[in-house]
Amino acid sequence: MRLVEERTGRRCLALPSNRLGLYLALRHWCEPGQRLLMSPISADEILFLVLAAGLRPVIAPLSPRDGNIDVSRVDLAAVDAVLTTNLYGLPDDAPFLSGKMSGKILIEDVAHAMETSVGDRPLGTFGQAGVFSLSKHPGAGSGGVLAVEHESDLRALQRARDALLAPGSLRADLTGVATSMARQVALRLDLVRPALRLMRALGMQEEREGYRISLEPEALKQALERIPELPPFDPWVRADLHDYRARRGRVARWYQSRRLAKVAADRGRRLAGVAALAELPTVAPAVRDNVRQPLFRVPLLVRDRDAAIAELERRGVATGYLYDPPYDDYAPAFTEPSPDPGPARWWARHVLPVDPVYAARALPVLRDLEPPTRGPS
Ligand SMILES: Cc1ncc(COP(=O)(O)O)c(C=O)c1O
Repeated sequence: MRLVEERTGRRCLALPSNRLGLYLALRHWCEPGQRLLMSPISADEILFLVLAAGLRPVIAPLSPRDGNIDVSRVDLAAVDAVLTTNLYGLPDDAPFLSGKMSGKILIEDVAHAMETSVGDRPLGTFGQAGVFSLSKHPGAGSGGVLAVEHESDLRALQRARDALLAPGSLRADLTGVATSMARQVALRLDLVRPALRLMRALGMQEEREGYRISLEPEALKQALERIPELPPFDPWVRADLHDYRARRGRVARWYQSRRLAKVAADRGRRLAGVAALAELPTVAPAVRDNVRQPLFRVPLLVRDRDAAIAELERRGVATGYLYDPPYDDYAPAFTEPSPDPGPARWWARHVLPVDPVYAARALPVLRDLEPPTRGPS
C-alpha cells in the first residue's frame, strides 16, 4: 500500500478487492438515483456494484481507438458522475473529464492502469477517488487500494469498509495465497494448459454464458428493491472472487505487499512486450500512442477473435478479461443505452487482449492474425 501512496501522493485504504472500493467510493460521493456515465465495456461485477449503489448506469459511446469512453461524444451535463475504466491500462481522458466536471463526481477504476500516467500524472489522481486492484499488475490473487485526497474522506470510507467486511479466516487466506502462487508458477513454467484443465475440472472458474455471467433478471429485480445495500448483490458482484469483501489477515497482506513490490521488476519486460505488440498491424490504434506505458494487456483487434483464443490456448497462452457483449446489450432493462452502440459491439467482438509480459510466447500465433474485415461503424 505504501507504494500506491508514494505513486499517487494520496491517502490510501487497503481493501480485499478493487470492486469493494468502487462500491464504497460510489456510495460515499453519489446519492441513490443519480446518473452515472460509464463505458459499455468492463468487468461484469462493475455494472452490478453500480446498480447496488442505487445509481442509474448511463452507457457512454465507446472509442474504437482505445475501448474507453469516447469523450468527444458524451453529454456531461446529463449525468451526475463518471466512472472511468482505463481498459487494459490505456488511459481514459481523465484530464478532460476532471476539467469538465466541476461540481460533479469522477471515480477512476484503475484496476488495469496501476502503472499508467497521463503527462507526468498517474491515473487514479484525477478524480475524487482512484481504485487499484492487486490482482492485476501485481498478480496477488486479490486485494485493492482506494486512493483519495482528503483525510476526512478516508476516515469515513474506512468506517464504511469496516461495516461491510465479512469475517475472513487463516484457512481462506492460505488457500488464496497458495492458488495465486500456483498460478504464477504455471505461468512462469509454461504450464498454462494443464493448469487451465485442472481449474476447469475443479470448477474453479465462474460459469459463464459466452463471456458474461448469467444475468438472472428476476433475482436482480428483487435485489434492486434493497438498494443501496451491497450483500443482496453478492451473487453478481462476487464473480471470480467470492471473498471480495472478506477481511484479510496478516498472511494475505504480507503476500499482497510482496507482489506489489515486484511490479517494478516486471516493468522492463512489460514495456518490451508492449513495444513488440505495438508493431502488429492488428494492434488497437491507441496502443501506438502509449508504447511507454507498462500496460496490463495489449488489445489487438482481430477478425476471428474466438479462433485466435483457441489457437493461443493450444500453445499454452490463456486469454482473459473479455467483456462481451457491451453492458447495454447484456442488461438492457437495467441500463440507459448508448446513443451509438455499434463501436462497442464491434470492439467487444474483435478485441484480443494479450499479456505483454508473455508476448514472446503469443507472437507466433499473433503474427498470422488478420484485422476485422469491416470497421467499427
Ligand atoms: C476493469 C476491471 N475493473 C475492476 C475489476 C475488479 O477488480 P477486483 O477483482 O480486484 O475486484 C476488474 C477485474 O477483473 C476489472 O477487469
